[in-house]
Amino acid sequence: MAQITENKMKQLFKKVWETPPNKIYESVIKRLTFSISNQSYDYSLKSILQSQKHMQTVSLMDRWERYFKVIENKTGDKNLKNKFNFRGKRIFELGCGPLFGWGPIAIFLGADTYYYHEPALEREVTLSQVLKEKYFSPLYKELMSEFSLNISFSEFYDKVKSKCLPMDFNNVNNIDLILSNSVLEHIPFNDLDSLLSNLHKISNEKALYMHAVDFGSHGKGGSGFGSLYRESNTTTNKILSLLRKNDIEKCLIDNGFSLMHSIVYRSEVIDRNKIDPSWSDYSDIDLNSKTVFFIGGLK
Ligand SMILES: C[S@@+](CC[C@H](N)C(=O)[O-])C[C@H]1O[C@@H](n2cnc3c(N)ncnc32)[C@H](O)[C@@H]1O
Repeated sequence: MAQITENKMKQLFKKVWETPPNKIYESVIKRLTFSISNQSYDYSLKSILQSQKHMQTVSLMDRWERYFKVIENKTGDKNLKNKFNFRGKRIFELGCGPLFGWGPIAIFLGADTYYYHEPALEREVTLSQVLKEKYFSPLYKELMSEFSLNISFSEFYDKVKSKCLPMDFNNVNNIDLILSNSVLEHIPFNDLDSLLSNLHKISNEKALYMHAVDFGSHGKGGSGFGSLYRESNTTTNKILSLLRKNDIEKCLIDNGFSLMHSIVYRSEVIDRNKIDPSWSDYSDIDLNSKTVFFIGGLK
């Protein structure tokens, strides 16, 4: 192993020695630019097609079923999934990802309209011919196998085009369901506060919301919480807001939402002796909660 490392070092020095300075400069800039642009989401056609995660047609359906199994088990409310059924509903999804998130499934199952707010989504890419063939067609087949409804692919796809719409916060209201998955943890407190205030304005009085939030390190310093609690929570973090479960709860309540359930799906016990003092006011539950479902309506 040591031999390989030594050889690699020798090769690297040789390469640097033989490369003109302008080429080294270009390469450094390229790497820097990549790591910076990597902080935002790349939903270009090439990147979507290369992403196993996004092209998996079953994962969103399976996720929905799994989440509600957990939610119903943990709350004992066996009617919760039914309250979130899509039929006839006006749905809003925050940060849906590149392929309209739960939208096409909701539309297939009879949703009235699905609105999304996703800064990185490029609509012409999502509705391109290649994704029609490689994502929406297999998704349709999967949905037909699971639900066997009387709807052709062209009807389904036309509905996806006409009913999955970008959100216009000034002109859309009367929303019944608000959804997000792995999004709130990326939004800094001030933005989250104004966003939730907007979400309150667009909701009808019986609206329900479900936000699944991943409080983990997102890979930084390892899986789970990685090195997250070893650093100060005032350190600038380009991708995470570093808010915890109680902060999100407070933000929801302060913006006029009721909190029916705050369900800890996944957690990990952390060692309080190893955390930076900036985290010490948080309770064990708030620090240990890794994936949480926030569910409620309007106050
Ligand atoms: C981890 S991805 C989750 C995508 C998708 N919901 C999923 O589960 O695969 C986070 C998403 O949140 C979006 N996002 C980040 N900040 C946002 C904001 N202020 N408003 C709406 N979406 C945002 C990103 O563009 C990205 O698509």
